[in-house]
Amino acid sequence: MGDTSKLLMDHYESEHWREVQQDVGILGNSEKIRQLIETIEQVAPTDISVLISGESGTGKELIARAVHKRSRRRDQPLITVNCGAIPDGILESELFGHEKGSFTGAAGQRKGYFELAHKGSIFLDEIGELPLSIQVKLLRVLEEREFMRVGGTTLQSVDIRFIAATNRNLEEDVHKGHFRQDLYYRLNAIHIKAPSLRERREDIVVLAKKFAADFCRNNLIEFQGFTDGAFHLMEEYSWPGNVRELRNLVEKVIVLERGQRIDDRILSKYINTFDDHRNLPVPLDKPKDELERELLLRVLLEIKSEIAQLRELVMMGVPQRYSLKPWGGEAPNQYAHAPDGQANAATPESVSEMEKEMIKATLIKTGGNKRKAAKVLGLSERTLYRKINKYGLRDNES
Ligand SMILES: Nc1ncnc2c1ncn2[C@@H]1O[C@H](COP(=O)(O)OP(=O)(O)OP(=O)(O)O)[C@@H](O)[C@H]1O
Ligand SMILES: [Mg+2]
Repeated sequence: MGDTSKLLMDHYESEHWREVQQDVGILGNSEKIRQLIETIEQVAPTDISVLISGESGTGKELIARAVHKRSRRRDQPLITVNCGAIPDGILESELFGHEKGSFTGAAGQRKGYFELAHKGSIFLDEIGELPLSIQVKLLRVLEEREFMRVGGTTLQSVDIRFIAATNRNLEEDVHKGHFRQDLYYRLNAIHIKAPSLRERREDIVVLAKKFAADFCRNNLIEFQGFTDGAFHLMEEYSWPGNVRELRNLVEKVIVLERGQRIDDRILSKYINTFDDHRNLPVPLDKPKDELERELLLRVLLEIKSEIAQLRELVMMGVPQRYSLKPWGGEAPNQYAHAPDGQANAATPESVSEMEKEMIKATLIKTGGNKRKAAKVLGLSERTLYRKINKYGLRDNES
C-alpha cells in the first residue's frame, strides 16, 4: 500500500471522520460518499450557494440539511421550501411576504420565507419548478440579499445562505428556456451531485443493515436478519427509487415476513426484478445474432411492462362505467374505498372529465400523496395542484 492511500485509510478510519459522518447522517463507505462528505465539509463553513442535483431518493434533502448543520449558521433556522408544491397564486407572497391589504384577503402584514430564514439558511427544494416570473425576483435576492414584500415600498435586507435542489436536468431546462441562465449560474456556484445507489453498490449492504437495525429498535421487532443471498439480490437490483426505495423495502419485508430470516427467494417477491431488464448491461462479447435476439427480447419485455402500466392506468381512471370490467365484474380495491362512492356515476363526457377522473383515481391510489400522483401522471407537481383546484378536488375527496 502506498503512503498516500495509507494516509487516506487512516483519515477515513479516524475518530474525527466518524464524528463528522455521524453528525451529517449520510451513510456509506464508498468513494462517492466519502467525496460527497468531504465536499460538504469544504463548502459548508462559507456562505457560498449550493445546488444539489440527483435522482429521487438519493438524499438531496439530507445533503441540504448537512450543509446547514456543518455551517456557522447551524443554530439559526433552516427554512425548507418545496417550490413545486406551492400554488402559483400565493408563491410570491409566501416567499417574499406581503403588506397589509396588498391583495384581497391579506388582512395583515406577513413575513415570507426569506425573512424567516434571516441569519440562517433557505433550502429551495425542487427549484426547477419555479415559474420564470419568480425566478427573476429570486435572482435579485441572490445577488443583493434584498427584496420587497408584495405590496411593499421599502427594501428588506436579509442575511441568508442559499441551498437549492432539483431532480431535473436544469441545464436542459435552461436550453429550453424554462429556467433562467443567469439564475442557474448564480445557484450553481457549487454543484453537488447526489450519486444514485446504482453507482455505489458497495453501500447497499451497509444501508440495509442500518435501516433494519434502526427500524427494529424503534418498533421493538426481533428480526433474524438477511442471508448473503438476499444481500446479493439487493446488490444486483437497479434501485430506481434509490435509498428511499431501499429503506422502504427493508421495512416492508421485516413487517410482512414477521421478522423471519429473509433469503433471496423471499426477497424476490418484493423486488421487482422483472421490470429491471432495462438496466441490464448489454453484453458486447456475444455473437451478433444472439445479441440482436437479446435486445429484441428486452424491447418486447419493455412493451409488455408498458402495456401492463397502461392497463393499470385505464383500470384506475376508467371505472366500471366504461363496462370494461377487466376485473371480472368486481370493482378493484381502490374503488371499494373511493370516498365519494361514485363507481356508477355518469359516463364522463369530455376529455377534461376523464382527466379529472384519472387524477382523482391516482390520488386515491397514492393515498393522497400529490407528489407521487404527479409522478404517476407525468405532470409537474405545480400542474397537478392547478388541476386539483380547477376540478375542485378538495383534500377530503382526494
Ligand atoms: N446516504 C444516506 N444515508 C442514510 N440515509 C439516506 C442516505 N441517502 C438518503 N437517505 C434516506 O433516504 C430517504 C430519501 O432521502 P431524501 O428525502 O433526502 O431524498 P431526495 O433526494 O430529497 O428525494 P426526492 O427527490 O424524492 O425529494 C430519507 O429517508 C433519507 O434519510
Ligand atoms: Mg427531496
